[in-house]
Formats: sequence, C-alpha cells, structure tokens
Amino acid sequence: MALNPYLPQPARILKRRQESDTVFTLRLRFEDVGLRARYRFAPGQFNMVYLLGVGEVPISIVSDPELDGVFDHTIRCVGRVTEGLASLHEGECVGIRGPYGRGWPLSEAQGRDLLVITGGLGCAPVVSVIHYAIRHRRRFGKLTIIQGVKHSDDMIYRDQYQAWSQVPNTEVHVAANAVRGAWPWHVGPVTELIAQAEPDPERTVVMMCGPEGMMLAAARMLMDKGLPDTALFLSLERNMQCGIGHCGHCQIGGQFVCRDGPVFNFAQVRSWFGVRGF
Ligand SMILES: Cc1cc2nc3c(=O)[nH]c(=O)nc-3n(C[C@H](O)[C@H](O)[C@H](O)COP(=O)(O)OP(=O)(O)OC[C@H]3O[C@@H](n4cnc5c(N)ncnc54)[C@H](O)[C@@H]3O)c2cc1C
Ligand code: FES
Repeated sequence: MALNPYLPQPARILKRRQESDTVFTLRLRFEDVGLRARYRFAPGQFNMVYLLGVGEVPISIVSDPELDGVFDHTIRCVGRVTEGLASLHEGECVGIRGPYGRGWPLSEAQGRDLLVITGGLGCAPVVSVIHYAIRHRRRFGKLTIIQGVKHSDDMIYRDQYQAWSQVPNTEVHVAANAVRGAWPWHVGPVTELIAQAEPDPERTVVMMCGPEGMMLAAARMLMDKGLPDTALFLSLERNMQCGIGHCGHCQIGGQFVCRDGPVFNFAQVRSWFGVRGF
C-alpha cells in the first residue's frame, strides 16, 4: 500500500551537533527498517520535518546521498518550529515526509566544470551536491566553491571546507564581510570573489543558493562573463505548507517551488526576481 503523502514517518535523532550559536545538525534514521532501506534522495531535495505537536518545516538534506540509511539536516533557529527542533536531544524522534522537489541537474553537469556559489546558511542545499561531486570526482571537471558569510562567526562546516580545498582539481574561496580572530580567507563581500572567478562559459554549470539579492547579483556578473542563463541553477526558498504541489503557498509565477523546484535554472525564474509578492 502506498504511504499517505501527508503522514510524517518517525525518524530518530542519532547525532546532534551544534555548528554555531544558532545552527545545529541532526543525523536522522527512520524507525521503520523497510523505509530506511527504500529511502533515496538526490542532492538539492528537501524533507518536510515535523516537530510533534508544533508544526512542519521544509529543510534541505545536506548529507552525502550515498550514506547508508541515514541523512542529515542542518537547521538555523528562526522561529517556532526550528527553535523547538533545537531543543531535541539524541534519541528523540521527529516526523519526516519526503524527499521532495527537484534537485540539482547532475546528469547535465557530468563532464563539465562546476561552480558552486553560496551565501550564509544558504550553503545547506548545495552541501549534498558537493559531497556527491567529491565522491565522484572524475565525473566532473574543475570544481570551484565560493562561499560568502556576513561575519566569520557565521561560518559553519569549516573543517569540511578545509578538506574540500585539498581535493584535486578543486578550489575553495570563502569571504566574510566582517571577521573576528584568525581568518585565512578573503575579507569583503562574496561578490568580490565572483568578480575574480574565470569560469569557462562553454563548460561551466553554476549551482547557487542563498539570499535572492546575492543570487541575482551573481547571475548578472556571470552572464557578463558570457555564461548563458540556462547554465545558472538556483535553489529558491518559499513559505511551504504541503510540500507536494497541492496548496499553492509556494507559488512563483506559474510554478510551485516545492514541486517544480526548489532548483530552477535562471531562465525559468528571472522575470519573477525582485517582483513584489513573489
Ligand atoms: C526548500 C527549502 C529548503 C530549506 N532548507 C533549510 C535548511 O536546510 N535549513 C534551514 O535552517 N532552513 C531551511 N529552510 C527554511 C526553513 O524552512 C524556515 O526557516 C522554517 O520554515 C522556519 O520555520 P519556524 O517555524 O522555525 O519559523 P517561523 O515562526 O515560521 O518564522 C520565523 C521567521 O522566519 C521567517 N521565515 C520563515 N520561513 C522562511 C523562509 N522559508 N524563508 C525566509 N524567511 C522565512 C518568517 O517570516 C519569520 O520572520 C528551507 C526552506 C525551503 C523552502
Ligand atoms: S507547499 Fe503546497 S504547493 Fe508548494
């Protein structure tokens, strides 16, 4: 019998890691052994995470899609549900529906250079694709990761960024507008790093997430460097309720972010950027 798409399935917290004052990562595993074995996701997809008795929120899956039987969510506390999730301990359960949405265009990106650009906790939707590209390094050309944060204190996954920079044919560039303490990377806005990048317009696929203003500025700079809008992919965030294309809460133009996205190419959504109400 098919599962009711509105029914969250219990998943237990195996590990909880505090990434910064307001950001934490949960490693989860379904209680149901059959579901555990069947559950597969693509980089860029999300789950609806249900805090019992409080509510449900869409959260990207950040782990390597080939990790066996477990998956990770990195969550920033901003309100009712995320603050409640932050107070859970290892061994407690949440409800999960998913995976939902369309992820990054991995088959289109095969054999091409990847340029990954993220801002703030916007890194969550691309972390899984970075894990994937690193695990299958030979399937892709040059991998360049550009990450921007407002303040160096906001920089999570520092060890991972250091480790990724050691992988062959991979560059990691990080920028912070303001810094405290030792900071080995660039000081200034992330757009300064994008201005310095020299992606090959014929070979490069760009994957971006973060604040929409940053993605719009980045898209314009990359098109000035000769990249077509069809090679620029963005992960969008909208208020969601159902997560499966039924309620209309996440509509952008004629599309639903939960069902048709969250990853779109810029050509599909550029006319809605900056338009009030979208
Ligand atoms: C596809 C998708 C993937 C996401 N992935 C992640 C992730 O990996 N990690 C993560 O921490 N968050 C992620 N989010 C955002 C997350 O869903 C929201 O932060 C969450 O719904 C807030 O719920 P809350 O009950 O804690 O806050 P609420 O009490 O609902 O809201 C608190 C404040 O946050 C604002 N807010 C709520 N939702 C959003 C939103 N989607 N965008 C901008 N502002 C919002 C509200 O306006 C309000 O000011 C994702 C959202 C989408 C659509
Ligand atoms: S959240 Fe209901 S249609 Fe997208």
